[in-house]
Amino acid sequence: MAQTTTITLTGAGGQIGYAALFRIAAGDMLGPDRLIALRLLEIPQGMRGAEGAAMELLDCAFPLLESVEISDDPNVAFDGANIALLIGSRPRTAGMERGDLLAANGAIFGPQGRAIGEHAADDVRVAVVGNPANTNALIAQQHAAGVPAERFSALTRLDHNRAVGLLAAEAGASVRAVDGITIWGNHSATQYPDLSHATIDGRPALETVDAAWARGPYIERVAKRGAEIIEVRGGSSVASAANAAIEHVRDWVLGTGDRRTSAAVVSRGEYGVPEGLISSFPVRSDGDGWRVVEGLGVDDFSRQRIDASVAELVAERDAVRELGLIP
Ligand code: NAI
Repeated sequence: MAQTTTITLTGAGGQIGYAALFRIAAGDMLGPDRLIALRLLEIPQGMRGAEGAAMELLDCAFPLLESVEISDDPNVAFDGANIALLIGSRPRTAGMERGDLLAANGAIFGPQGRAIGEHAADDVRVAVVGNPANTNALIAQQHAAGVPAERFSALTRLDHNRAVGLLAAEAGASVRAVDGITIWGNHSATQYPDLSHATIDGRPALETVDAAWARGPYIERVAKRGAEIIEVRGGSSVASAANAAIEHVRDWVLGTGDRRTSAAVVSRGEYGVPEGLISSFPVRSDGDGWRVVEGLGVDDFSRQRIDASVAELVAERDAVRELGLIP
C-alpha cells in the first residue's frame, strides 16, 4: 500500500493556492507513488474560495487524492501535517508601514508556527511562500517548539527560475543547459541573482553573456520581474509562483541530484550570513533535507550584494524582535 502524505496548504482560497492545488493532487509535487491527504487552511472570508476549490478537486477524481479537509483553525489544519505550504499572508496595502506589515504577519505566522509545533507530524517540513517570506518563515520557526529549525524554509525558487529563464533567453540556450545560478539573501528587491558560478552547457555563463549585463540590468530584471508581470498581465505572478512552490518541495523531498538550486534556509553561518537568519543560499537536497553548497568563491562585487540583502534580513529580524514577535 502506498504511503499517504498529509499536506497542509494555507491561503487555499487565494490565487496561488488555486493554481497549486490541482498540480499537487495530480502528483507533480511528490511523484506518482504517494497518496495525498490535503488540509486547507483559510480565514473565514476565504472559506468559500477554499470550498469551491475542494469541489473542483473532487470533480477531477485524482487517483492519488485520498481526502480534502477545510478548516479555519490552524490547530486542526496542521494536525498530522508532513508538509506545510504557508501561502496565505497579509499583503501590504496602501499607506501600510513596514512595521504594520510585519506585525500583521506576525499575528498569522506566530500562531501557525505554534500550531505546527503542537500538532504536525514529527517529520514536518515547512515552506513559506507568503510575503515577506523569509521573515514570516523566521517567525513561524521561532514559535514551533520542538521542530528542528532546518525544517523551515522560504521560497526563492521563483526568483531562481526567473534567473534561469532570463539567462537562457539572453544566451539563446535551452533552460536545460543552465546550471549553477544562485539567488542570495532576501526574497525582495535586494535579492542577488549571481551568475559567477553559472554554466551554460558546462561552460562559464560569463564567457557567453556580457559581464556588464550580468552584473547590472540582469540583476535588476530578475529582482523586478514580479512588477514586470503585473504591468503586462494586469495581475501578479500566480502560476509561476505555484510552480516554484511545487518544485521547491519536490526537490526538498525527492532530492535535486547533482544540480543546484536556491532556497531560503536557516543559516548556520555559511558565507558569513548571521546564524539563525532564513536567507537564500545555493542548495542541494539528498531528500533528507536542504544542504547549503559550500566553498563557492565570492568576489568583491558578490560580497557587497550578498551583504546588502542580508542587512535587510537583519533589519527585518530586529524589527520583529522589537515588536515582540520573536524572542
Ligand atoms: P491571494 O490574496 O489571492 O490569496 C491569499 C489567501 O490567503 C486569501 O484567500 C486569504 O484569505 C488567505 N489568508 C490570509 N490570511 C490567512 C491566514 N491567516 N490563514 C490562512 N489563509 C489566509 O494571494 P496570492 O496571489 O495567492 O499570494 C499569496 C502570497 O504569496 C502573497 O503574500 C504574495 O505576496 C506571496 N507570493 C510569494 C512569492 C514568492 O516567490 N515567495 C511569489 C508570489 C507571491
